[in-house]
Amino acid sequence: MGTALDLADVQGNILNGYGSHFGHAVHLLLHADTAEAARQCLQQVQGRVTTAARWSRGHRPRTTLNVGVTYSGFQRLELRPSLLDRFPEAFREGPSKRAADLGDTGLSSPDEWEEPLGAGHVHLLLTICAQTPDDLSRAWERLRDELGSITGLAVVAEQETHALPRRREHFGFADGFSQPEIEGVDRPSSHRPTWDSGIGVPLPGGRWRPIKAGEFLLGRPDEDGQIETEPDPELVRNGTYVVYRKLRQDVQRFEESLTEAARRTGLPRELVAAKIMGRWRDGISLATESHRGDPGDLTEVANDQPANDFRYLPDDREGHTCPLGAHIRRANPRDALDFGGTLTDSGVLTARHRIIRRGMPYEETSGSGSDDRGLLFVCYQADIARQYETVQKDWCNDGDTFGLGDDPDYLFGRAGSSGKMAIPMPDGRPRFVDVPPDLVVTRGTEYLFAPGIGALRKLAEGAFG
Ligand code: HEM
Repeated sequence: MGTALDLADVQGNILNGYGSHFGHAVHLLLHADTAEAARQCLQQVQGRVTTAARWSRGHRPRTTLNVGVTYSGFQRLELRPSLLDRFPEAFREGPSKRAADLGDTGLSSPDEWEEPLGAGHVHLLLTICAQTPDDLSRAWERLRDELGSITGLAVVAEQETHALPRRREHFGFADGFSQPEIEGVDRPSSHRPTWDSGIGVPLPGGRWRPIKAGEFLLGRPDEDGQIETEPDPELVRNGTYVVYRKLRQDVQRFEESLTEAARRTGLPRELVAAKIMGRWRDGISLATESHRGDPGDLTEVANDQPANDFRYLPDDREGHTCPLGAHIRRANPRDALDFGGTLTDSGVLTARHRIIRRGMPYEETSGSGSDDRGLLFVCYQADIARQYETVQKDWCNDGDTFGLGDDPDYLFGRAGSSGKMAIPMPDGRPRFVDVPPDLVVTRGTEYLFAPGIGALRKLAEGAFG
């Protein structure tokens, strides 16, 4: 297992989520005119950044605070060029340059993104999570005041998010509970019977093991036995890359599309919804419960932690239970990527492409008075290209890896994709549903790095210049 994780040096909400107690959050996106302004901001907050160290019983804070730095933020902090040049290409290029490749085209293209997202103006991201809306307002107000006193620092956008009741996202599905089990990280006991709970790496024979911490934290061994220390071990140790995406959801069109798909296929509407996601709206997976006479009370979450201990092979190779193109099967194929049985340890391949998701829904009224709602998607990984981008581009936007041609994930249909999803059925007669384009539209993306606590302190002192 290697040396124990230094949780007090890792920012909070990465290895373990803050959880349902912290259902209110705001992201402050900051621009610094000078290196001094950026450093002063880090000096101001670094002593109270929330870490991954578990708070003792009865000492849960009212609010938390975390920090991310973009590539242009590191430039603004005047890191020396030999370091800047050695950051990974995806991070240096940033999301706008990579947008076309990632399916951010048409309505989702960077030209349409909300300012200032993706334009290189954001240097720092400060995130407050809070137990109640009042806690959030107080901490937000206080932080604004503190930042306001720093010459040359501007808050260029503020993004509020709030958890919906029963852990739903706006399409009505329970969300956020299948997260990687990480070596050396204890989970709160209610979430963790054992690591056999099915969210690590599936092993042949039905067991599971936790994923190496280096898949998420730099400076730790990853699944390939490598330790990433570029561009500087002191800078990246215990840090992680962050993908921040504002995704608008067209809820009305999603519901209409389900009605239409049910009419065309003759399948019950809620079964179609479950086939699209791979889970019923209450979170129970199709792999666990393939049929429901009555879809049940869809407003409930099945239980605190819907079962994750399922895999797709050998019983569901054809996708008769959970379609090969369902969102959760694409986004984490578990043991299914065995290339027709030629790969015996397929779980290890998938383990190289896992992400930790910490998104939360947002809802706002736009200038025209219409409602704008969606998911403020946030994920953490050691390598943006290998993890987030592979999942988005190769697994969700395209079907080739799964033998599905260019069929997209139902959630991410775009003009120009095949526009269909196949739902294989046990009767041997697959049903096809139309995938409406732009059910989920990207409103903007930032790539960031969440440094470890020691690195944050050094950055605040002007190190690495
Ligand atoms: C508005 C957009 C999205 C919606 C509504 C959505 C919804 C969901 C839901 C309901 C689940 C099942 C609950 C769970 O496992 O926690 C899920 C799982 C997941 N999603 Fe998404 N998602 C969205 C975007 C994305 C994006 C952009 C990615 C990455 C590119 C992604 C990757 C994943 C992964 C990795 C899982 C876990 C699968 C598993 O471990 O079985 N999702 N999503």
